[in-house]
Amino acid sequence: MSNNIVVAIDGYSSCGKSTLAKALAKELHFIYVDSGAMYRAVALYFLRNNIDMQNHKQVAQALKNIHLNFHSRDYQTHITLNDEEVSDEIRLMPVSEKVSTVAAIREVRVEMVKQQQRLGKSKSIVMDGRDIGTVVFPDAQVKLFMTADPKIRAERRYKELLPKNPDITLEEVFDNLAHRDYQDTTREESPLVRAEDAIILDNTDLTPKEQLLFALSKIEPFMKS
Ligand code: CDP
Ligand code: CDP
Repeated sequence: MSNNIVVAIDGYSSCGKSTLAKALAKELHFIYVDSGAMYRAVALYFLRNNIDMQNHKQVAQALKNIHLNFHSRDYQTHITLNDEEVSDEIRLMPVSEKVSTVAAIREVRVEMVKQQQRLGKSKSIVMDGRDIGTVVFPDAQVKLFMTADPKIRAERRYKELLPKNPDITLEEVFDNLAHRDYQDTTREESPLVRAEDAIILDNTDLTPKEQLLFALSKIEPFMKS
């Protein structure tokens, strides 16, 4: 039996999942994997190559042509798509508008889940996404399900995007989050649902430091055993 600890963080869009996951990984010296970045990189490839999402052959071939790699520097996500650093481009609106449709495709999910499970094999890991506690690591020792008031979430994301996207509006960000949450919770393949054994963490009124302390208190018992 391996002594690796898996912390699975799921939740709605812009709930603070990656902020928490990064902070935990730094504090506990775990590997951090942003599974959303993987779906975003696949969506970027589909956009650039005009992949017809209804065409199974094209989708299968695209997945064969996509090679993703993570490089962790300072616990920030650096992801490469076929050796090109795409960490910034995957956060832009064209990708945000496409990603949930791409992530609903069964073949895409099967491939991403396979890669994510491989990443969690050899070391303690904290991974955030939508199906980590339900599908990717159903046996994770600690599962957190994050939520926050939708308006607060949109304001936080808007503030984050504005410096690099001066034309963006709060309404556009709010609509994108709401639309993705709708798609992510209603899709057939691995919809976003709380795992029965996941602990709910509503951070509407919590600072990043406070949410970190809450999560650490849930993980610490497993660090001692
Ligand atoms: O950071 P944000 O909440 O905006 O989203 P993300 O974590 O980067 O994920 C982008 C999209 O990828 C989500 O809206 C989902 O459609 C999809 N996703 C997924 O389906 N399963 C995951 N494990 C992670 C992300
Ligand atoms: O990964 P996810 O999309 O769930 O959210 P995130 O990218 O970690 O957080 C979205 C924004 O909310 C970031 O700008 C965080 O700094 C901010 N945030 C916050 O202000 N307070 C929290 N308790 C958590 C996140």
